[in-house]
Amino acid sequence: MQQQDPLQKTSANASQVQGSVGNSADDIVLKVEDLEVTFFTEEGAVQAVRGISFEMKRGSILAIVGESGSGKSVTAYTILKLIQEPGRITGGKITFYPKNGKPIEISSLTERMICCSRYGAALSA
Ligand SMILES: Nc1ncnc2c1ncn2[C@@H]1O[C@H](COP(=O)(O)OP(=O)(O)O)[C@@H](O)[C@H]1O
Ligand SMILES: [Mg+2]
Repeated sequence: MQQQDPLQKTSANASQVQGSVGNSADDIVLKVEDLEVTFFTEEGAVQAVRGISFEMKRGSILAIVGESGSGKSVTAYTILKLIQEPGRITGGKITFYPKNGKPIEISSLTERMICCSRYGAALSA
């Protein structure tokens, strides 16, 4: 199997597209800041996501666009806490803003903490 070098790939970009259902401009539900995800494989470290940042407004649709292998799926899996070993968040943070209540830094939540958190409730809603 031929190995791809993800460092040669263009980074995925996030774009806010039409589809807002009318919330204030600063009503952010999710913020991704300088996120980095690395897979520590036997062949070496694969930096799948390198410093992506975007905000998602509550009630809006966000498109992540990029060429194949640029890190779209890994970004989405990481937000949903579905990245498993040998993949790890190696930089940045992801913050979830519940409608009411304090922001939750989901990048540092353990699986156990997610089960009991408002983020876990939001994911399973
Ligand atoms: N389990 C894994 N082990 C090693 N590298 C991985 C793994 N999953 C994804 N990658 C690498 O991460 C990069 C981004 O992949 P991916 O997010 O699936 O791209 P996209 O969804 O944008 O096509 C790719 O170079 C891919 O080879
Ligand atoms: Mg994909």
